[in-house]
Amino acid sequence: MVFPEYRPRRMRQNNNLRSLIRETRLSPEQLIYPIFVMPGKGKREEIISMPGVYRVSVDQLGNESKECMEAGVRSVILFGLPETKDPMGSGAHAKDGIIQRAIKELKNAAPDMSIVTDVCLCEYTDHGHCGCLVNGQVDNDTTIEILARTALSHAKAGADIVAPSDMMDGRVAEIRSTLDEHDFHMVPIMSYAVKYASYFYGPFRDAADCAPQFGDRRSYQMDPANSREALREATLDVEEGADILMVKPAVAYLDIISRLHDEFDLPIAAYHVSGEYAMIKAAAEKGWIDGEKVMAETLLSIRRAGADIILTYFAKDMGRLLLNT
Ligand code: PBG
Repeated sequence: MVFPEYRPRRMRQNNNLRSLIRETRLSPEQLIYPIFVMPGKGKREEIISMPGVYRVSVDQLGNESKECMEAGVRSVILFGLPETKDPMGSGAHAKDGIIQRAIKELKNAAPDMSIVTDVCLCEYTDHGHCGCLVNGQVDNDTTIEILARTALSHAKAGADIVAPSDMMDGRVAEIRSTLDEHDFHMVPIMSYAVKYASYFYGPFRDAADCAPQFGDRRSYQMDPANSREALREATLDVEEGADILMVKPAVAYLDIISRLHDEFDLPIAAYHVSGEYAMIKAAAEKGWIDGEKVMAETLLSIRRAGADIILTYFAKDMGRLLLNT
């Protein structure tokens, strides 16, 4: 006698069977841990709105990378808090800038670690916009030249992947040609191809001290109402030479991750951003959810939607959990 209606349940009887038919798996090497690097020595400051995440000085990067490696996480993305800011964001491409020094330190401390660098001006401009201003407006073409210079300075310092997050038009092509001219043909570009103008970035802007001093980022970041536009943005970046396409934020945009995964054959990354992290942490602190379980379910759902790579402040926690279960 056959009971077809029992077929799904038959395969859920025990852990072995469940594991045998599991469609999506997550492993620590697929995670990238974001690190905020600050000036000074011996500094390790917890970010209030992101419990468990710290701003650290360059000399602490050895410890940070050790923790990542022990959790099986082999990639980090660096964000810098420079000593000084100016209207053109010149600290972003300074030879001895905070990120340039951080890359060298990390390369020494953890030669096996892949270093991704965020390429953007918002942490380096005194007005907090992701580009330079001309007549009070963010000027696309001036900005992309400075971004290319920034990416080049990261590559020279030893970055393994550069990740432009500014959303200016034509920046991937400009960065690619500048890297190639200087013989950095082998440095891939992970493009923040689809970046929404999102309120989930709130805690990050505290952490990196980069909230815009006037206006907002809606003239260069995407409207959360649009999904076909995401395909246009991604197509442009592919044509310009991107090697990895990123969607950001992640959980409120799982449909976008899924569409990009179906439409393009490049690796897809998703950024589980600061606000998404903070919400889980806050609810867990109140005892309203099981933080660890919700973390695991959330990151798995981002994989299931189609992300090959996840950037997340949970990387170390998730890595440890995966190694221990
Ligand atoms: C811009 C940048 C931002 C984030 C990553 N890169 C902030 C923004 O666009 O305002 C946000 C990441 C997060 O919220 O975790 N350089």
